[in-house]
Amino acid sequence: MPAQDKAVQEELASLRQAIEHHNRLYHQLDTPRITDQEYDRLFQRLLELEAAYPDFVTDDSPSRRVGSAPLSDFRQVRHALPMLSLDKVNNEEDLDRFDQRLVKRLGNTSTIVYSCEPKIDGIAVSLLYENGILVRGATRGDGTTGEDITHNVRTVQDIPLRLHGSDYPGTLEVRGEIFMTKSGFAAMNREALGKGERIFVNPRNAAAGMMRQKNSRVTATRPLTMFCYGTGLVEGGNLPDALDDIYTQLEKWGLPVNPLRLAATGIEAACGYCRKILGQRDSLDYEIDGVVLKVNGLKLQQQLGMNARTPRWAVAFKFPAEEVATQLRDVEFQVGRTGTITPVARLEPVFVGGVTVSNATLHNMDEVRRLGICIGDWVIIRRAGDVIPKIVQLTSKPSGYESTSGVTGHEVQKKAIEAPEHCPVCGSPVVQDEGGVLLRCSGGLICRAQLEQSLIHFASRTAMDIEGLGNKLVEQLVREGLVGSIADIYRLDLDRLQNLERMGRKSAQNLLDGIERSKSVSLARFLYALGIREVGEATALSLANHFGTLDKVQQASVEVLESIPDIGPVVAGRIAGFFSQPAHQNLIRELLDAGVCPREQLLPANDKLPLAGQTWVVTGTLESMDRNAAKARLQALGAKVASSVSAKTTCVVAGPGAGSKLATAENLGINVIDEAEFLSLLESSAEPD
Ligand code: IVH
Repeated sequence: MPAQDKAVQEELASLRQAIEHHNRLYHQLDTPRITDQEYDRLFQRLLELEAAYPDFVTDDSPSRRVGSAPLSDFRQVRHALPMLSLDKVNNEEDLDRFDQRLVKRLGNTSTIVYSCEPKIDGIAVSLLYENGILVRGATRGDGTTGEDITHNVRTVQDIPLRLHGSDYPGTLEVRGEIFMTKSGFAAMNREALGKGERIFVNPRNAAAGMMRQKNSRVTATRPLTMFCYGTGLVEGGNLPDALDDIYTQLEKWGLPVNPLRLAATGIEAACGYCRKILGQRDSLDYEIDGVVLKVNGLKLQQQLGMNARTPRWAVAFKFPAEEVATQLRDVEFQVGRTGTITPVARLEPVFVGGVTVSNATLHNMDEVRRLGICIGDWVIIRRAGDVIPKIVQLTSKPSGYESTSGVTGHEVQKKAIEAPEHCPVCGSPVVQDEGGVLLRCSGGLICRAQLEQSLIHFASRTAMDIEGLGNKLVEQLVREGLVGSIADIYRLDLDRLQNLERMGRKSAQNLLDGIERSKSVSLARFLYALGIREVGEATALSLANHFGTLDKVQQASVEVLESIPDIGPVVAGRIAGFFSQPAHQNLIRELLDAGVCPREQLLPANDKLPLAGQTWVVTGTLESMDRNAAKARLQALGAKVASSVSAKTTCVVAGPGAGSKLATAENLGINVIDEAEFLSLLESSAEPD
């Protein structure tokens, strides 16, 4: 080979190695070591060299990850060994029976060890590695014949194009599930909505759509990932003889396997695992529909053999469905705190995701139009995690539904869903918001619904924290005419309160004590309690930290407000607009006259703040606040908040569902605290409260 060719090949090899190394640091370990520009430079150089020397392009080149020219059609792939399906059970009794059958078949042998892992709701694929290089990816198809999706599979960053190490079999077929993370899915849909593009119904459909993309350049831009759960054809080498050891080995070769897997001894332990995973279902960043239990020993698997299409040594423990069909019986319009009118679907009650659902939000009239639904239609309901159930699409009436679903389905007249012209609560005219998507009641605080919601918000735990003033009591106070504005809360007296139904003297006094205590409040909480549109806890805290006094916040111009980090032009406009209204100025005056006294925010010099000079990362879900609020609290204490963990990170706050950031922190020996520790740190630090 000419010397120049050799030099090019060497450069190509080192570029590929470096790029894959940085890919892994970035995508799997969340610890990028080079800047995006440096990475792009390496990539550009690789593309240039490969364009100049097309004969030197290899199958494991990271350039293959960016996608290739669109295919005209998919090639068929015949699986050397069939891709099997699983028997399913829905409860622990059936799981017990499954175990008893196996124990009996194995000649009443001892306790069985089960390799357990979540059942991922994604797309089954087979990956073929020849001499360590990914040469083919295929869908499951009918189990015998699938489709060649190599071009799409190569774009999935977690799938190695070349196996690590050298001790792999010459031919290794790995099987697993390709899926989209929930967060990646949500971000993708947000972006699509912003661009007015089509959105996907759920992560599974999105992943399936991407695997069937003829243009892999599209697939390459999607947040897809994979967990391997088994092997197919293996030649020219051996694998360990227990599934848990095979998983460890696959991991060493760089293949992604689920970190939540567990080898459980005995069916009791396996049942415990199923319960645990069901409990974690909502906090995982990917959708699962159950747990798969597989006999861990391969010899035992062989002994047990197969049924027609399913192995006897495995079973899927299915969790309750998160999507079901039901009938839309009516649509009502609810009025929120700021007057927004939201269509809410009244549904034929249906069991989904473990609970009975009879209402679902329709968000806005755009959503109603997008779904193309009418009252009386059949719709698919989805309940994922603790998310409010939503209607995902129109469907047709399932055949034989009466006998199977328990839905009674008495006739509902088909009727179009019309936007109201008057507020359903106070009758004021309805106005359309920016873009004509949102409907808003123009009644302001004369609208009982807006008044009640504003009072509930004002009194809530994270706002003025008025103990004893909950939803029911607010409704009662408004109904009885005791409270007609927020400031009226501070005009309540014992005589009138104790005469209310279900309210004795003692609870009336407790409530008055709670109201009295609320008068001493931090400026941040007070600002948040006012219910200014788009001013959440985090923004309220930024305002308080920046201005220090209520007076200064009230006087701030849009320009000054916009100069505060995290406050954009829209929010700045809302804040200035709120304080410019005479009704709001009066309200604030009345509250101050009644004795409410927002404490001035002390503004210590930045370097005196307790977390000054520190870098924090928040990952996973926190129960008591969202991540933005946690970020604002940390910033208020002087910390810098970063999005990825590196050697420079001081501390990581990890809630349930924390993934690679937590793993990286542990690898780097960085201090990790949970939510309880985080909250006690906030309490003990120089906080506004
Ligand atoms: S094992 C013979 N493990 O479930 C065993 N399957 O009904 C083969 N699936 O199409 C499957 N997560 O794509 C296994 N952790 C997991 C899985 C899993 C999802 C899918 C798989 C298959 C279907 C079987």
